Amino acid sequence: MGSRLICSEPSCGREIDRGAAATSCPECGGLLEFVYDPSQLPPTHLVDSFRSRRASGAALDRSGVWRFRELLPEFDEKGVVTLGEGGTPMPDAPRTAEWAGVARLAIKHQGTNPTGSFKDLGMTVCLSEAVRLGRTVAACASTGNTSASMAAYAARAGLQAVVFVPRGSVSRAKLAQAEDFGALVMDVGGNFDEAFAMLRKAAPELDLYLVNSINPLRLEGQKTLLFEILEQRGWRAPDVIALPGGNLGNCSAIGKGLRELSALGLLDRMPSLAVVQAEGACPFHTMWRSGASELVPLAAPETRATAIRIGSPANWRRARRALELTDGMTAAVSDEEIQLAKRQLASEGIGCEPASAAAVAGVRQLRASGLISSGADVVAVLTGHQLKDTDYILESAVSGDGPEPSSRRAVRERLARWLA
Ligand code: F0G
Repeated sequence: MGSRLICSEPSCGREIDRGAAATSCPECGGLLEFVYDPSQLPPTHLVDSFRSRRASGAALDRSGVWRFRELLPEFDEKGVVTLGEGGTPMPDAPRTAEWAGVARLAIKHQGTNPTGSFKDLGMTVCLSEAVRLGRTVAACASTGNTSASMAAYAARAGLQAVVFVPRGSVSRAKLAQAEDFGALVMDVGGNFDEAFAMLRKAAPELDLYLVNSINPLRLEGQKTLLFEILEQRGWRAPDVIALPGGNLGNCSAIGKGLRELSALGLLDRMPSLAVVQAEGACPFHTMWRSGASELVPLAAPETRATAIRIGSPANWRRARRALELTDGMTAAVSDEEIQLAKRQLASEGIGCEPASAAAVAGVRQLRASGLISSGADVVAVLTGHQLKDTDYILESAVSGDGPEPSSRRAVRERLARWLA
């Protein structure tokens, strides 16, 4: 289907040349997005194509992103940079549903992606565009996952990768991934917002191809997460899709996907999006709940869920449009609530990183406050793998410290205490 790149601000909508590789509108500064003409696509044929590709052996069909290529910008197949992303599982979590107080909770787990987070869905499209445009150096500011993902896909594409990370507040596992894939990692600024502001200034000067979620190609890949959720549910929408919010790219991507599926007649009803932020980093929640018309950035965001420690989310305008479209809601959860949700998930065999657990903590809080009903059928998006932040887990490990038992008797006693 023919796609066009336009300014996403409804009051502007100016058409932009895709070859210009811009991330914002030269007219009004708004972020850019791809739009499609749904009238050219027969929906049942689409659903059949998506499904039949799952059985195909072709590299592009094995990707849970490119399987949906009719709803992506056009690419020459030979130039696509893929690592077999997507196709992630969606197990039910009945005990966690009960804990949260909802009728049904399914977990759309992004941790099984090639680099262990949802970022891979956007990065396959973004790095394919970098190749298409003949760019040689990709760059991002990151709280960790974007950098790990970009570094992998850049390596796959034969591009260099440069990462700006906030000093001292990115999990070591994520930094290790970026290093392993050969990226240049630079400590820049005290938090994500500072690192991102520096990169936005530096990118044009240094000819760096920016792959943060203000890049419209990122959202194109990430919206396929929604397509998978619906396909896995037989194209029946849940009541609520809950997800953590940081820079708000993912919420914007899912909102965009919902708009497109609705226009194609592939949505039986509109689910509500629930964006969950950490209490110490919740400028979007504050704006939404107060009904304010502008987001007030937070100078010093704070949370142990470092992936979402962001005070000035770049995508807040489109995230707000996503909530307006879906009769959506927000929540702000404390670090304690995040930890409880993470433990609850783990007790049901589902591991994830702290930021991901925020989504489930948010479902419980929104149920308790009545914004989600007890009969709700909910999908929570767990954005990253359990091993993304092992320090977080080990800092409050349930086994505790203490001397290693040195005799069989000591082992027996310790086990008895543990089981008691
Ligand atoms: N969950 C995880 C695990 C993340 O890494 C991020 C963002 C989010 C949720 C929030 O997603 O920004 O689309 O609202 N991580 C970015 C990074 C900022 O640099 O890895 P968002």
